[in-house]
Amino acid sequence: MPQLNEFTYSSRFSDSIPIVGSAFTKNQQDAIPLSFGFPAPETFPIQPIIDATTYSLMTDGDRALQYTGGDGKKKIAQWIVDRSKLRSIETSAENVLVTTGSMQAIDLAVRTLTDENDEVWIEAPTFFGAVRIFQLAGVRLRSFPVDQNGVDVDAIEKELIDATNNHQPLPKMIYVMPNYHNPTGVNLSLERRKKLAALAYRYNFFILEDDAYVDLNFSNIYVPAIYHYAPERVIYLSTFSKLIAPSIRMGWAIGNDSVIQKMHLLKVDGTTSAFVQEIVANVLEKMNVETHISSITQLYRERCEAMISAVLNYFGDEVTFVVPKGGFFLWLTFPLGVNTSHLVQACVDKGVNFIAGEYFYEGCLEFNHLRLCFTFCDEKKIDEGIKKIAEVYFANKNLQLFQEAE
Ligand SMILES: Cc1ncc(COP(=O)(O)O)c(C=O)c1O
Repeated sequence: MPQLNEFTYSSRFSDSIPIVGSAFTKNQQDAIPLSFGFPAPETFPIQPIIDATTYSLMTDGDRALQYTGGDGKKKIAQWIVDRSKLRSIETSAENVLVTTGSMQAIDLAVRTLTDENDEVWIEAPTFFGAVRIFQLAGVRLRSFPVDQNGVDVDAIEKELIDATNNHQPLPKMIYVMPNYHNPTGVNLSLERRKKLAALAYRYNFFILEDDAYVDLNFSNIYVPAIYHYAPERVIYLSTFSKLIAPSIRMGWAIGNDSVIQKMHLLKVDGTTSAFVQEIVANVLEKMNVETHISSITQLYRERCEAMISAVLNYFGDEVTFVVPKGGFFLWLTFPLGVNTSHLVQACVDKGVNFIAGEYFYEGCLEFNHLRLCFTFCDEKKIDEGIKKIAEVYFANKNLQLFQEAE
């Protein structure tokens, strides 16, 4: 056996990168999973996927499985172009980059727009998956608060003015989730969208508009994307993870010619499976997309309502929240001084999990929130889970253990 010397891995693996999300809960098999940001599995269109796979293989044969030597047939890109009109986005298939999940699009965007130590401004709270990508890109992050109308664009403007006056670096990119924000569930108001778009032109930064949940709206109302107001300074992202299934790993980015070409160059995995692109295009062609979406949103609306009733029932007015109009998440705010991280283990021991609020912040930690996902569990489990969290909370409310960390 040769001697095994210690190996120095890349400095990217800093201790400050926490493990969160589903990986974080992998040892909690028996707990009611209110932490997972997972779609309801009963919404997956399994038979249409089987039919579309067979159709693709029967009609395209070996070509369906060959290297494409390009982007494939672009059928899916055209579907994205047509669907984008609902979001007031006018684009063409050449300006759509199909990616391996929208996570890859976030990665390509930050690597296209920034160098190490550049400024990227984010929301507080924000999606920790994106924060991980930004940390790996080595950019500097600055957070701006989110209220019931989305990120505080006036605070962003003030910081832009201050940075300009003080010769401080301006952001290269601002990352926002305008619809059914993860984790708060709020929407960015139209007025703020317009203002942020105007700031992007004035201060010459890109907006990374992550619209993962746009179709999961309970009222079938689409408001214009930020992209609509600043097509030259927005990279718009969305995904099939919530509409079809996450495991197909297909998302997309829309941007101007120059930025999409550059993202293309950095996309070093060849193309996102052209075979899967064809299958998804065939699924969407054959199924009634509107019926599919409305059955998903109806299920999620019922589950969201069940979760809200359970929260009101078991917590009374101890917590506050914004009622989501779509998406996946309910974000609870506890009285100041509560640290929800200290509740996690006791809740898991009791058979339920959630994600503590602190994981959604970078730099300006707030401890008195938690994120619940209402899509994955049925109404009975949701009720049981919330009851358990409330029991743990009230049993320990006055103990030092639950107070905010110094
Ligand atoms: C806001 C947001 N963006 C992107 C993603 C990742 O989606 P995808 O499965 O397309 O990579 C998620 C997943 O939970 C998300 O919440």
